[in-house]
Amino acid sequence: MAKEIVITGGAGFIGSNLALELQRREPGAEILLVDDFRSGSFPNLAGFRGDLVTADVGLLDWPRLLGNRTPELVFHLASITDTTVTDTATQMRANVEGWRHLLSCFAGKSVRLVYASSAAVYGICTSVRNRVGDPERPANAYGFSKLQMEHLAWCFARENPGIPLCGLRYFNVYGPRETHKGKSASMIGQLAAQIHSGTRPRLFVDGTQKRDFVYVADVVEATLSAASAALAAKGHAVFNVGSGQGRSFNEVIRCLNAALGTQAEPEYFPCPYRFFQPHTEADLSATRATIGYEPRFSLEKGIEAYRESGWLGRDPLE
Ligand SMILES: NC(=O)c1ccc[n+]([C@@H]2O[C@H](COP(=O)([O-])OP(=O)(O)OC[C@H]3O[C@@H](n4cnc5c(N)ncnc54)[C@H](O)[C@@H]3O)[C@@H](O)[C@H]2O)c1
Repeated sequence: MAKEIVITGGAGFIGSNLALELQRREPGAEILLVDDFRSGSFPNLAGFRGDLVTADVGLLDWPRLLGNRTPELVFHLASITDTTVTDTATQMRANVEGWRHLLSCFAGKSVRLVYASSAAVYGICTSVRNRVGDPERPANAYGFSKLQMEHLAWCFARENPGIPLCGLRYFNVYGPRETHKGKSASMIGQLAAQIHSGTRPRLFVDGTQKRDFVYVADVVEATLSAASAALAAKGHAVFNVGSGQGRSFNEVIRCLNAALGTQAEPEYFPCPYRFFQPHTEADLSATRATIGYEPRFSLEKGIEAYRESGWLGRDPLE
């Protein structure tokens, strides 16, 4: 593993889990986080001992920051993550132009780049499993911006064939350090908070819609594996990162009740969204074969691990 590592979006949900795990595994590595705190949260970084630059990745003077050093590895996770931001220009400027700026600063360098894409690129599709290579039909500006980030990465890879680049389409990630996301946090986190506060968990009628919910420890594992795999595989590749199983919102309530020792009954209400995905499920065959990722957490195990972390339904640092 690299000795100098940059993580953008390091104060966010996935970025902070990644930073803390990297610090645990690589005590000798220099880990530099870049985050402008537009959605990130400092309590996520309790225990982190590396450097933290508070800056917008799209405006940062990377050469000035890094001098003549080139990090061996960059994880680019910074992004607008609120999918209800419907203004396309805002999503595109932050997500795509920020990525373009970062890429341009690392062109021609000896670096490996791993970046966060999203299952939102699939949008409303009819197939039961979401497979990289299926036609993408993003249903919102966020998903569109993530797909454009992938297109930009393909262009960059053509011009910089020596730089390994890996895009990861994360599915519905849940786990510790997501509380700051509020209404953008995973439904598992939000439903647990509703149960914890004594209100009935609210689901769209009739709770049978399925999502590929993936525990954050699995996502961190996949992200680190992608970085190692990228060592060998120069060029650009995109992979799904999920649990490989679509599970319903009703099943989530059952698992939460089991973990929290409650008997909460969902309150159903009509879905107001025209483009609500009925089903997401990651096809992991390429992810398994190429980066060796094998999810370890079923929905039941993930929710139990979340409860054990002390973060389920609440922020233990508040
Ligand atoms: N959580 C999920 O379920 C999920 C699913 C699919 C994809 N993703 C992707 O994974 C990545 C991490 O998401 P997350 O869930 O940790 O979200 P998050 O909102 O917790 O983290 C994003 C972090 O990036 C920072 N940030 C945003 N724009 C920035 C900018 N221009 N400059 C510097 N910092 C900036 C925010 O302050 C925040 O700390 C994102 O790229 C997101 O699109 C997440």
